Amino acid sequence: MADLNLMEKIISLAKRRGFIFPGSEIYGGLAGTYDYGPLGVALKKNIENAWWRHFVDSRDDMYGIDSAILMNPKVWEASGHVGGFSDPLVADLKTKKRYRADHLLEEQGVDPAGMTLEQMGEVMKEKKIKSPEGNELSTPQQFNMMFKTSVGSVDGSDMTVYLRPETAQGMFVNFKNIIDTFHPKLPFGIAQIGRNFRNEIAPRDFIFRVRELEIMEFEYFLAENAWQDTFEYWRIQMRSWFSSLGFADDDIKEIEIPDGERAHYSKRTVDFHFKYPHKFDEIGGLAYRTDFDLKKHIERSGVDLRYLDQATNERFVPHVLEPTFGLGRHLLAVLAKSYTEDELGGETRVVLKFPAHLAPIKAAVFPLLKNKPELVAKAREVYVMLKKEIPQIVWDDNGNIGKRYRRQDEIGTPFCVTIDFDTLGENPALKDTVTLRWRDTGAQERLTVSEVAEHIRSAIR
Ligand code: GLY
Repeated sequence: MADLNLMEKIISLAKRRGFIFPGSEIYGGLAGTYDYGPLGVALKKNIENAWWRHFVDSRDDMYGIDSAILMNPKVWEASGHVGGFSDPLVADLKTKKRYRADHLLEEQGVDPAGMTLEQMGEVMKEKKIKSPEGNELSTPQQFNMMFKTSVGSVDGSDMTVYLRPETAQGMFVNFKNIIDTFHPKLPFGIAQIGRNFRNEIAPRDFIFRVRELEIMEFEYFLAENAWQDTFEYWRIQMRSWFSSLGFADDDIKEIEIPDGERAHYSKRTVDFHFKYPHKFDEIGGLAYRTDFDLKKHIERSGVDLRYLDQATNERFVPHVLEPTFGLGRHLLAVLAKSYTEDELGGETRVVLKFPAHLAPIKAAVFPLLKNKPELVAKAREVYVMLKKEIPQIVWDDNGNIGKRYRRQDEIGTPFCVTIDFDTLGENPALKDTVTLRWRDTGAQERLTVSEVAEHIRSAIR
């Protein structure tokens, strides 16, 4: 069941503590856009870096790229996005506002999966579905979701180009560059993390459905006869990635997408749905794109994009599996999974139980009291030492120690380090030791600074 209360709490915490702000808020905002603050950007980078390590750096068969957002529009004609990247829309005949026909049907308890435009229109008529303002609606029509812009020129012959709706085409148009420069043997992948644009008519569910989105994905090129086994291999790898983020098995559902409902390029797709506060919804997917894209680019560009098998001297167009992951959707999933309200020491608290390797701040360093110069000087020394090794560390000397713990718990900082009079040698047996406190249990231990560094290092590895 949807836990919209949880979503509200996450949205409010995200804003209050500097994770995510509504876009252009001082001008009243712009639907479907969000700005990431210091903690949001740190969390996002940690997810990206973990993804890149998991799927690219830890392997020998993966090649990373970062391709341009603006591409020759012929790319999108060849890929089928100009003709086929669309959503079914209806317009309010009075206000002219447009709505997703499938969403309006879902809201009336009708499952629109597999319906043609005509069928959607018939059911809407039958059920007398009106616009949210209560007005008559047009019949459903396909609406292309690509944003258009133009590349200017001095003689006025501007060229219409698109903001890319997926990073995948960057991998296909660079296939030959990777072959020519790195000479990889099949199977191998080309990976990218980047920003994409989709003109969602109804952005909703916080950062779940937005108009600018970052995708982490790779195209894995292989011989046609290997696709089924390798599909299974990547399905399992994707599950292991989700568990590395702290998700439980039942947080993720796999949905086999039936014939007629897959993207135009796919012969088999499994979507991965995460248990979000609003509902189980898509966080990533695995698609078998066959040789669709490379073949289309060969046809349209006239460039030979076949692979030469050195052993058999045979040239052929490789087939492709595509594991794809929404970065913002990962961030929302990590926030939802981590958000906890519990009781510690007789007090209720909000705590984000991030896995330590994803936490935006790894540790906060405090002097027990802020008005004792000796204590502050020693604490600064410890802070500088730790920060040199582990940069995502902050200093906090504001308010009493209990308040500082609560503040750090609320942003998911896994460790707090306190410097007190014993550190200075008031109890000689404890000289140069500090208190390390664990976020989830509130447990504390007296350790040397190098032991503290080792604890933090091993937790964030
Ligand atoms: N490349 C995957 C997608 O467009 O969703």
